[in-house]
Amino acid sequence: MATYALLKWQVEMGADEAIGNESRNYFAAPSLRATGEAIQPVHEKELDRHGSSSLAMTKLQASPALAAGSAREMADKAATLAELEAAVRAFDGCALKKTASKTVFADGNPNAAVMVIGEAPGAQEDMQGIPFCGPSGALLDKMLAAIGLSRAEQVYISNTVFWRPPGNRQPSVEETAICLPFVEKHIALIQPKLLLLAGGTAASSLLSRTESISRLRGKAYPYQNAYLTQPIQTIITYHPSYLLRQPAQKRLAWQDMLMIQSLI
Ligand code: URA
Repeated sequence: MATYALLKWQVEMGADEAIGNESRNYFAAPSLRATGEAIQPVHEKELDRHGSSSLAMTKLQASPALAAGSAREMADKAATLAELEAAVRAFDGCALKKTASKTVFADGNPNAAVMVIGEAPGAQEDMQGIPFCGPSGALLDKMLAAIGLSRAEQVYISNTVFWRPPGNRQPSVEETAICLPFVEKHIALIQPKLLLLAGGTAASSLLSRTESISRLRGKAYPYQNAYLTQPIQTIITYHPSYLLRQPAQKRLAWQDMLMIQSLI
């Protein structure tokens, strides 16, 4: 019974798969595994569940700088939202893709006034391919509805990475840096009136701010990137999954919602 309770608790905490932080080829020779070197796949032409070539993935993923460069080239070329989505789906440079079931690109109205950037897809999002479709998404929808905003009309939602990190861990700095060119182009193609960064990962990836959310929230920041002709007003607030754990902070998140309402 104690074992069952422990397992149940782990599943509730998001540790619902028996895997590590990085995906590994356990069929590779033990010597390669031990040194942690990039492992050549057994069948070079074998495609994974996303239709990606394992060899291409292995090469790109061996170098975060190479992967980020490749993402930048692909993002530069994407002239429309459809082209950007196709580029993200075709991209093989982020190791998270190996362990994820689905690419989670975006949800909501591409003509929205508000674009929300969260952290990373979770278990529900990985199953459905839709950002914020689990419990934290339900809270986010409620918060937005309280100021009259809905995904169907005024809101567009995405994340700092497009694939679920194993066990719901936080994406690493390398993983967010690799996906950043796509996120930057995403924001430029949507051109929202206001950007809402939910949680510390989005704040550090997009604004390079690493202070706590309690320090960062409560004011508007100008967000700029290479694809934008002018800065976008940006608000930083608590991530809804944090608010689910710390409901007392909803009072401050409500103030953030009111600030959004006054800015749009
Ligand atoms: N948390 C996030 O940051 N993004 C999602 O899409 C789901 C949960």
